[in-house]
Amino acid sequence: MAVRSPQTSTEWLAYYRLRYEVLRQPWQQPLGSERVPEDEAPTTVHAMCVMPNGAVAGVGMLQPARENKGQVRFMAVAPAWQGQGIGRELLVYLEEAAMQLGYAEIILHAREAAVPFYQRQQYTIVAPSHTLFGSIPHFLMAKTFAR
Ligand SMILES: CC(C)(COP(=O)(O)OP(=O)(O)OC[C@H]1O[C@@H](n2cnc3c(N)ncnc32)[C@H](O)[C@@H]1OP(=O)(O)O)[C@@H](O)C(=O)NCCC(=O)NCCS
Repeated sequence: MAVRSPQTSTEWLAYYRLRYEVLRQPWQQPLGSERVPEDEAPTTVHAMCVMPNGAVAGVGMLQPARENKGQVRFMAVAPAWQGQGIGRELLVYLEEAAMQLGYAEIILHAREAAVPFYQRQQYTIVAPSHTLFGSIPHFLMAKTFAR
């Protein structure tokens, strides 16, 4: 497998489709709700994991946040590929991009069920955050880079 940014229009479609299927469709959210204006910003980094057969197995993005921080959003691994290290590979890719961009820290709002995944990658809970779709509690988490 390889982690890199989407390049072709076909890859961009697959990128957003997986984001929708994992993070929006199960909660009956409309197509298009998986996209945000920050997706188009030149400072945003998009990552996808491509399998040898060309299938997109996982996605994630990094955008700038206040105080020289980066924010990871929309981490999603296809159900069939979860638990096989793909989420970790995506996060490492985004963390390396964050370090190259000079960010001192990464923050993210983790779904409750994903908190142990981020803790495993040395993120710590900062505070409870919002509840998405009236049913998914989130936690603000952070990881500071060693200097
Ligand atoms: C959360 C998610 C991105 C993690 O990706 P993944 O590919 O399944 O995770 P990995 O296989 O890379 O896991 C890395 C490590 O975290 C652990 N882990 C992953 N998910 C976990 C969970 N929910 N609870 C406890 N441990 C978990 C793995 O066991 C693995 O441990 P190891 O270091 O001992 O091998 C993915 O499961 C997913 O897309 N879930 C549904 C959508 C979602 O919640 N996205 C996050 C929104 S904030």
